[in-house]
Amino acid sequence: MCGIVASVTQRNVINILVKGIKKLEYRGYDSAGLAIINDQKNIMRIRCVGKVNELIKKVKEKNIFGNIGVAHTRWATHGKISKENTHPHISSNIVVVHNGIIENSSQLRNFLIKKGYIFYSETDTEVIAHLLHWEQNKKKEHLKTAIQKTIKQLYGNYSMVVIDQRSPSELIAVRSSSPLVIGLGSEENFVASDQIALLDVTKRFIYLEEDDIAIIKNREINIFNKRNTIIHRKEMYSNIQYNTVEKTGYRHYMEKEIYEQPESIRNTLKYRLQENNTVYFSELEKKEKKLLKNLENIQIVGCGTSYNAAMVAKYWFESLVNIPCHVEIASEFTSRKPAISKNTVLITLSQSGETADTLLALRYAKKLNYLGNLTICNMEGSSLVKESDLCLLTKSGIEIGVASTKSFTTQLTVLLMLVAQIAQIKKKTHIEKKIVQNLYMLPIRIENVLKKDQSIKIIADQICDKNNVLFVGKGELYPIAIEGALKLKEISYIHAEGYPAGELKHGPLALIDQNTPVIVIAPKNALWLKIQKNIHEIALRDGLIYIFSNYNDYHENNTFFIKLPYVEELIAPIFYTIPLQLLAYHVALNKNRNIDQPRNLAKSVTVE
Ligand code: G6P
Repeated sequence: MCGIVASVTQRNVINILVKGIKKLEYRGYDSAGLAIINDQKNIMRIRCVGKVNELIKKVKEKNIFGNIGVAHTRWATHGKISKENTHPHISSNIVVVHNGIIENSSQLRNFLIKKGYIFYSETDTEVIAHLLHWEQNKKKEHLKTAIQKTIKQLYGNYSMVVIDQRSPSELIAVRSSSPLVIGLGSEENFVASDQIALLDVTKRFIYLEEDDIAIIKNREINIFNKRNTIIHRKEMYSNIQYNTVEKTGYRHYMEKEIYEQPESIRNTLKYRLQENNTVYFSELEKKEKKLLKNLENIQIVGCGTSYNAAMVAKYWFESLVNIPCHVEIASEFTSRKPAISKNTVLITLSQSGETADTLLALRYAKKLNYLGNLTICNMEGSSLVKESDLCLLTKSGIEIGVASTKSFTTQLTVLLMLVAQIAQIKKKTHIEKKIVQNLYMLPIRIENVLKKDQSIKIIADQICDKNNVLFVGKGELYPIAIEGALKLKEISYIHAEGYPAGELKHGPLALIDQNTPVIVIAPKNALWLKIQKNIHEIALRDGLIYIFSNYNDYHENNTFFIKLPYVEELIAPIFYTIPLQLLAYHVALNKNRNIDQPRNLAKSVTVE
């Protein structure tokens, strides 16, 4: 989603800005722009619809130079995709880039029009720029005071960076619900919506907290809290290796991230599996263990792929440790008043830790009667991590591809370890032992299934010209069917749906013909006989069937069998995800799609 980069330095700021927003491309955007204040104290702005490379071309043509500037990638929310709507927005001496949504922008716009302001865009950001200009000039206020007066009038979620032609040596960064991080340099400083944008120039970061306002000069940073008091925020050192944000020989980040899964899972498991077949989370101290001891119910919320991981976890919590578990899409959870069973712990699942719907669900839940909350998240320092009672990190490393892969499998890995932890607390040691033993095998099992890449490619060649694909599974492999369908839809733009195999006869069978591939996930397990009947139902209707299984006993017409290696039943949902990721990847590759940045989608969705 929208990305911000800003810097105040003693060298030309342009390279820092363009390299920074290039790194933020993965978040998804439709247009990009930047503005600097040059040596003559003039504001120079360049904007364009489309990719950052286009912007870079324009920047080179103009050959501009300055020591302070802001840049932005815009994912359209208020107003269409156009150059006029692209950030930065300017009001006379004021330049603003902004992420988020100002809900009362139309009232403020009307007010400002009456005061004589002319609007060149449809955006809420231009409203901020003009309002700030109005507040600054009404009583000749200092910029910070004007910002404080401005933000008191804004309703919504936002983070923004402002520069002012009249004081061209300072950036002002404001955070409200949308993340912003300050990067610390030597006689230069930076701001971005995501530390990835700044890894080229620094490893030292300060995360702004809710309602912070930071005044950033090249040798000095002052952060003010809501009460206008100077506040110290902890400096963090980033351990992200620069090459983790490079493709290192792979064609796409998604391909790289699919292949990284054995390693990511090893990192997730490291130090958490003990030699005596027990699980250990260093994050869980006495208080947190007490929370898990007292829990009687679980409510999980998440969006997209994270929601699908939650659906698998429901099967595990209920069948392995007998804890009732409810799962809900975050935006639906906040759209109703949930009835909360006694001693329920809320779990939020999120790769980014910044998904607005999930964050709002956590904030909503805090006002309700939950026993406590915990987040399973990939991004240390993210809003969800900061605002949750407890966090279990997935440790999959940075994920750049918009379609989640290694985040999903590491989320499942942590969820299964959490089940083991609860089993330990509830003295179900045989369950804990079985989970731990199975998890030890997981990276090797995934390495084995990744070797099936070429046979999956053959299937991808066959389905890439189809318009609809059904995915079916049973039991805890049903959510994997949904995840497989989501991956295919996201990156190939082929319509795909995931169904419980037994549900086909209640509707989807009407779609079956020789042009509708049905991907069936059917390992040899306790449900195998049942799913066989469902496969037969599809075959009778001339369906085009692709069976992913370790056991071949199918003699139906039009049925293709993709033999997969053996895997333990408990970890089968994680294992069976991999071939479906590869399938989606190869189909999208065949169709020449923009795999890492599919149209209209964003990696981190920071608006409701
Ligand atoms: C976006 C991404 C998905 C992701 C979802 C939830 O829609 O495109 O890949 O699954 O957000 O993101 P989160 O960071 O909360 O897991």
